[in-house]
Amino acid sequence: MRIFVQNNLRKVAELAYQFVKSAIVDKGSKVLGFASGSTMLDLYAELASGCRRGDLDFSDVSTFNVGEYLGLPPDHPQSCRFFMEANLFGHLNLKSSNIHFLDGLTDSVEDECAYYEQDMEALGGVKLQLLGLGRNGHLGFNEPGTPMESRSHYATLTEETREDNRRFFPAKVDVPRWALTMGTGTILDAQELLLIATGQEKAIAVRDMVEGPVSASCPASFLQVHPNANVILDEAAASLLARKSYWNASADDYNDMMDYLMAARRKAGLE
Ligand code: GLP
Repeated sequence: MRIFVQNNLRKVAELAYQFVKSAIVDKGSKVLGFASGSTMLDLYAELASGCRRGDLDFSDVSTFNVGEYLGLPPDHPQSCRFFMEANLFGHLNLKSSNIHFLDGLTDSVEDECAYYEQDMEALGGVKLQLLGLGRNGHLGFNEPGTPMESRSHYATLTEETREDNRRFFPAKVDVPRWALTMGTGTILDAQELLLIATGQEKAIAVRDMVEGPVSASCPASFLQVHPNANVILDEAAASLLARKSYWNASADDYNDMMDYLMAARRKAGLE
């Protein structure tokens, strides 16, 4: 797990942008996973302007989103699909046929989830999956207690999550009780993960995710076992980490390590 602590939200978004750019431009990744949630808004604005200036090309990129509320149509202003169209997809040169989304109005939850998994597999899997973090440590809509191997499924939302998302709905009763979500096993299958968390209200979940045990009580802690999981935090979200400076210093020290090794090899007469 690599943890990058940035001192303001602009830097969080800029660093996240570099991850997406590197996936598309350097690695030629064609399948990206996205998440909804207010944390992603700055990054999505950056991606939109990157695409506008021709820095990023999404014309042959396919997308999968982590989840969708059950019972909401795609044009419902609180649906994840609507959020993505308004804040990202509508500003990119994506082909609409390349946008994959769980259908909150499906006539078969089981089939919908199974087809979603099949579509991902048929395209060779997600190369870079973006993730936000729930205050209770949820990933996508995988609430505490979700088994690590879980595949796409319907999830019963906790009261805490419904309360957190209450601000987007006219009344609490309007917040859906269920969602369709990639499972944590599905998420962990992505080649690379990039989770973003900002703000003091995420600090406990961040601490549990990074320094707590790998446990279904905090689904985000499953990132600890992924070989290429990256986490970008602001200072507030990182504030409860016991080893914050170690995490940050070791996140991006590959070149320093190689320089040091080369110098040691030269000194030993090996170069
Ligand atoms: C929601 C979404 C997640 C999101 C998380 C945090 O329930 N399912 O995809 O990452 O909660 O949302 P926010 O970024 O608004 O804090």
